[in-house]
Amino acid sequence: MKMREMIMVLDFGGQYNQLIARRVRDEGVYAEVYSYEIGVEKIRELDPKGIIFTGGPNSVYLEESPHIDKAVFDLGIPILGICYGTQLIAYTLGGKVETAPTSEYGKTDVNVDTGDILFRGVRPVTTTWMSHTDYVSSIPEGFRITGSTPVCPVAAMSDPERKIYAVQFHPEVQHCREGNKMLHNFVYDVCGCTGDWKMNSFVDDSIRAIREKVGSGRVLCALSGGVDSSVAATLMAKAVGEQLTCVFVDHGLLRKNEGDEVEAVFGPAGPYKLNFIRVNAQEEFYEKLAGIEEPEQKRKVIGEEFIRIFEREAKKIGKVDFLVQGTIYPDVIESGLGKSAVIKSHHNVGGLPEHVDFKDIIEPLRMLFKDEVRRAGLELGLPEHLVYRQPFPGPGLGIRIIGEITAEKVRMVQEADHIFREELGIARLDRFANQYFAALTNMRSVGVMGDFRTYDYACVLRAVVTDDFMTAEAADLPYSVLQRVMTRIVNEVRGINRVFYDLTSKPPGTIEFE
Ligand code: XMP
Repeated sequence: MKMREMIMVLDFGGQYNQLIARRVRDEGVYAEVYSYEIGVEKIRELDPKGIIFTGGPNSVYLEESPHIDKAVFDLGIPILGICYGTQLIAYTLGGKVETAPTSEYGKTDVNVDTGDILFRGVRPVTTTWMSHTDYVSSIPEGFRITGSTPVCPVAAMSDPERKIYAVQFHPEVQHCREGNKMLHNFVYDVCGCTGDWKMNSFVDDSIRAIREKVGSGRVLCALSGGVDSSVAATLMAKAVGEQLTCVFVDHGLLRKNEGDEVEAVFGPAGPYKLNFIRVNAQEEFYEKLAGIEEPEQKRKVIGEEFIRIFEREAKKIGKVDFLVQGTIYPDVIESGLGKSAVIKSHHNVGGLPEHVDFKDIIEPLRMLFKDEVRRAGLELGLPEHLVYRQPFPGPGLGIRIIGEITAEKVRMVQEADHIFREELGIARLDRFANQYFAALTNMRSVGVMGDFRTYDYACVLRAVVTDDFMTAEAADLPYSVLQRVMTRIVNEVRGINRVFYDLTSKPPGTIEFE
């Protein structure tokens, strides 16, 4: 297989390290994040087209801060330093780094030398994003200053001869207006990349590699219907067809009609020739969950039960050779660079089964960011509604029913949620809110329906706007839409007589209720 061009992002602990790799990939060039401790020999072996040093929270002149072997500068590989990375270049090559009396933080106009390759096509005064206290006070030999602000004498420097470029600001963050152009200039004009990172070639290459690895072996995949597992399953199905068995456990905590939707795509009537097993385990789950109210306990029971049922089904299939996991690149990075991925229980229903006998794990999406997973899904022909679906937690409606879970409560929350989602779709607000759903409170209150007194449950509508799901704001939905949803829910859903809208942001709230 042809070697793909690669930009190596060397991580010095900055909060934007993933973002740098994502932005480079947006430019059509593959980028991978490595720990700064990787060592010069390994870098030589991996032969990247360029290296980017990330930012980091430390001061270069402290002994315990991450440093780099000077030999990296003699490899002849172009280097771009960002923030801490820039200070590290200056410090390592004989320049000087000092601490400023005040930090420079936020949007900052920088005067740049547009004659420098990095700033080709960039405005002479460009808005950047700064976040630093230390600064380069004297540049190393061979460098020249290519950017400055009134308070930061070296906002950018370069040594075109050795192809070393460095910026104090963060070109990878959105607020840096022309940051993408700078990264583009670095990867194409400095590193000489041609831009061979495309999803269609990723799909073709992966199919080839999977076939080679699997041979005539048998593959098992747990399918949840979420984006990652659906894309992973489709890729595997295209690669090995009937050698693949997908087990879809319907835990009875899915959204309305969801089980049938998954079956329509992956089942016998769908476009893929694979072995599809749907396990209708609703009753088993409800039995195990009876009487449990505590959220973490619910998660635990759901996770354990899921694994148990999956193992039981796997045993019926007999010996399998490979197990598919829907791990994606942020999981790999977050669980420690260079180490194998330990998957957070938060992201996967229950981790790896212990009693399934298999030779090896296949993680076909291991190197993809979420938006790339979606693009690969479209490339594979998955329907848009599946590829762009909002996140749905592994424990499903189990954590959207406050208190004890019963089949009756599941029905109520499914119906209410379905109405809410339908109305947001009609109002074309379904892409405005990044996640939106109904939950069932544990509160019952008195109402009146016709001439009768009711004593029923209250449901809560939750819709949030967020980039990364770490922080979120309640979506400012039109009152008329909320009112229509409320009217439909109290009229159509037996057992609910009150509807609330949750205004809480995250923090202090979380997106889910449990
Ligand atoms: P919170 O509620 O922590 O949610 O603000 C942040 C994002 O994570 C999802 N979430 C989960 N996903 N298992 C999952 O697979 C879980 O137990 C879980 N809890 C929360 C949530 O839907 C939101 O997108």
